[in-house]
Amino acid sequence: MLAIAILAAGKGTRMRSNLPKVLHQLAGKSLIERVLTNCKAMNANHQFLIVGHKSEDIKKTLSENTKLEFVLQEPQNGTGHAIQQLTPFLNGFKGDLLVLNGDVPLLRESTIKSLLETHRSQCADATLLTARIKNPFGYGRVFLKDDKKVEKIVEEKDCNTNQRKNTLTNGGVYCFNWEKLSKIISKLSSSNNQNEIYLTEAISKLEVTIHHEVDDSKELSGINNKRQLADCESILQERLRDYWLEEGVTFTDPTSCTISEDCDFGNNVIIEPQTHFRGKCKVGDNCIIGPGSLIKDSQIGNDVNIINSVINSSKIENKVVIGPFAHIRPDVHIKNNCKIGNFVEIKKSTIGVKTKVNHLSYIGDTICGENVNVGAGTITANFDGIRKHSTIIGNHCKTGANSVLVAPIQLEDNVTVGAGSTLTKNIPKGALAISRSKQSIKDNWKKS
Ligand code: UD1
Ligand code: MG
Repeated sequence: MLAIAILAAGKGTRMRSNLPKVLHQLAGKSLIERVLTNCKAMNANHQFLIVGHKSEDIKKTLSENTKLEFVLQEPQNGTGHAIQQLTPFLNGFKGDLLVLNGDVPLLRESTIKSLLETHRSQCADATLLTARIKNPFGYGRVFLKDDKKVEKIVEEKDCNTNQRKNTLTNGGVYCFNWEKLSKIISKLSSSNNQNEIYLTEAISKLEVTIHHEVDDSKELSGINNKRQLADCESILQERLRDYWLEEGVTFTDPTSCTISEDCDFGNNVIIEPQTHFRGKCKVGDNCIIGPGSLIKDSQIGNDVNIINSVINSSKIENKVVIGPFAHIRPDVHIKNNCKIGNFVEIKKSTIGVKTKVNHLSYIGDTICGENVNVGAGTITANFDGIRKHSTIIGNHCKTGANSVLVAPIQLEDNVTVGAGSTLTKNIPKGALAISRSKQSIKDNWKKS
């Protein structure tokens, strides 16, 4: 039997933020979601989340996770006090309790598994993950009785100068034999420099406590302030880039790019400098993305080229060229072989195959057909001040430079719009629509 408890009740004062610490994000995912993902494969019988400070915000974020049992810790008197709150919930429970700090997000699933294996094979009362850290400032220091057995953990604030030199640190990830822990959990004191009930004190109260030193100390990076948040972000970005470099993605300047975990890249993709992927993105084969682009929650087909542009919550099909300086806003579907040029903004629209929107346009709430040439400066005027209206442009249409299509409006197939026209009425198939005042010329206007 296995129960998991994740500690997420603390104030996170050192973050200096209104947002609860565990809701801060790394590569697009909150710390708490990361910790939950890291231990998902353990298939625990119970999964407790200990909440306190801004508990409602945390519950709301995780409301879709129906397996979680929320346990309220009020007030928040320390990590040992947090675990004390579990006693009524684990009454009669026979098995192991895996405790994870909600602010230790880089832990690998395989490391959690080997912690549990070590703990069970050694029949320990408690097993904790440790790491040797060059600059262990802020972490609890782990003191050993012999090579494997742990004598005690001393928090940074309680260490004397000599103890501070110890680089073996507590990762905040533990496996306890619950029957043994439950006997001593109520006996923890708060006689320390922070007047808190430390979970780490339980270690010296149990008979057989061992440690499992991780190979990669970065896995145990804890986040207590924004500096550590930034450090973890760069560790995670490096992991993600390394993965995709191995998979054959070319980064011309890797460290200038960021990727979210929910990204997928095809073969032969080149990512140019200063390009960022957020949320869930899928990029097909032979694409060149960047320099200077931001792609969020979007699907990009094969052979697509995007330069200096922003694409948000949209679908781009194959052989499309976008940019420089295009802004594709949510709910856009750009079909095969389109060209979206500079200073073009598109929102909630479908653009048919082989259509060109090459220069200085706004296209919103529009269904545009195939092989259309949207002239420079064409604008769909979709907003009447109160409501949005749609524009329909048929196949093979051509709009002249600086045309304004005042929605709701429909241009049937093969329509031509004269440059500088402001159109308010539907235009039938094959027609030419012009609405501009006739040019007049006054000869000899200027006296020479
Ligand atoms: C803790 C450990 C330290 C270890 C480090 C690893 C203790 C006393 N110290 O220190 O040995 O090296 O983690 O990162 O455990 N929390 C609660 N309720 C509380 C207080 C905290 O749920 O009353 C939660 C926090 O939200 C956080 C976690 O417990 O997710 C750890 O608390 P934090 O204050 O960050 O402890 P550290 O000082 O990092
Ligand atoms: Mg911490």
